[in-house]
Amino acid sequence: GMEGFNLELSDNPESLEQILVDCRDTLKYGVRTGHPRFFNQLSTGLDIIGLAGEWLTSTANTNMFTYEIAPVFVLMEQITLRKMREIIGWTDKDGDGIFSPGGAISNMYSIMAARYKYYPEVKTKGMAAVPKLVLFTSEHSHYSIKKAGAALGFGTENGYAPLYVNATAGTTVYGAFDPIHEIADICEKYNLWLHVDAAWGGGLLMSSKHRHKLNGIERANSVTWNPHKMMGVLLQCSAILLREKGILQGCNQMCAGYLFQQDKQYDITYDTGDKAIQCGRHVDIFKFWLMWKAKGTVGFETQINKCLELSEYLYNKIKNREEFEMVFKGEPEHTNVCFWYIPPSLRGMPDSEERREKLHRVAPKIKALMMESGTTMVGYQPHADKVNFFRMVVSNPAATKSDIDFLVEEIERLGQDL
Ligand SMILES: Cc1ncc(COP(=O)(O)O)c(C=O)c1O
Repeated sequence: GMEGFNLELSDNPESLEQILVDCRDTLKYGVRTGHPRFFNQLSTGLDIIGLAGEWLTSTANTNMFTYEIAPVFVLMEQITLRKMREIIGWTDKDGDGIFSPGGAISNMYSIMAARYKYYPEVKTKGMAAVPKLVLFTSEHSHYSIKKAGAALGFGTENGYAPLYVNATAGTTVYGAFDPIHEIADICEKYNLWLHVDAAWGGGLLMSSKHRHKLNGIERANSVTWNPHKMMGVLLQCSAILLREKGILQGCNQMCAGYLFQQDKQYDITYDTGDKAIQCGRHVDIFKFWLMWKAKGTVGFETQINKCLELSEYLYNKIKNREEFEMVFKGEPEHTNVCFWYIPPSLRGMPDSEERREKLHRVAPKIKALMMESGTTMVGYQPHADKVNFFRMVVSNPAATKSDIDFLVEEIERLGQDL
């Protein structure tokens, strides 16, 4: 359907006019994921200061691996990570952290750090030299924990020696918060590494009204926190934060002689590149740092509270209507509002296999119609024994009550004949 837009690469240069048309077509045929009626993903929006930060970052076109070519960005990263650790509540100034390509990679770092802390020999001798290790995580946790288990040689159905527990602060689908204090008690008792995946919920740490949902996070050994989700920083911007300094470096450093010479004229601890599993590393810090400067901590708080108020508005709007049914009881803890739309043909019908099968087909059908009309976008999915339902999330500060009203009306309009 991309009429006239030729994606094939040419041997000869195209004209500037054609290049501009290509740019226009790229945006024209793409999905407008920054639009205030785009509710499909946790990362959305278009912060204008963040955009300026991204442009400046590309203008500099440097690489985070050494201080010698990215001195300002390295310092900004250090200061921002320190500030994030303070907000978590780690009092020791000597913690650690790094920005990574996303929450999944941040979670992977946490497992690597835990394994290295308890079994440093794994770096040189491999998994055969250590006991069969077990990772614990909940069914609602993000699939990246399981994926990291597979990638790092733990396997997804393996183990005897407990090593690590992942608690999720803001689950991907329900937006639920695990009880961190209770989990931390068990981890302390059995000397296990506690990771808190606050990729999504970490943003609430910026809000005095909502940060109690993360009580106990200061007891974690490591935390994943994605500014590119709830805080609206442009993709990509994800931190892995560690309470203890030195583990990342020990775990990952390979001392490549062409980058990390030991006899540089400056303090080489500013070369952060060997902490990473990457070699080259994109500058993700600047847009975040610039946004923080422009909004202040209070600006992030206002923006996050607004999104939470909007989802509360949605929840209150639909919770008692016969056209909608909530997926779980009680008020959502985050901006996730999970619900079924019940079309007229299924209203009043008692629960049965037939009703469940029919209801399962409703959300995908509405979503398909929604995408054809191009008016709004929201995610759906089944979960455990629940048939397909809509998972609504709000993280775009540009969204308003009228966008929420629109979504509800649109679902009703598209679903009324199903
Ligand atoms: C709780 C949680 N952790 C980790 C991730 C992975 O984040 P990313 O997509 O930035 O890798 C997600 C993504 O939705 C998430 O919800």
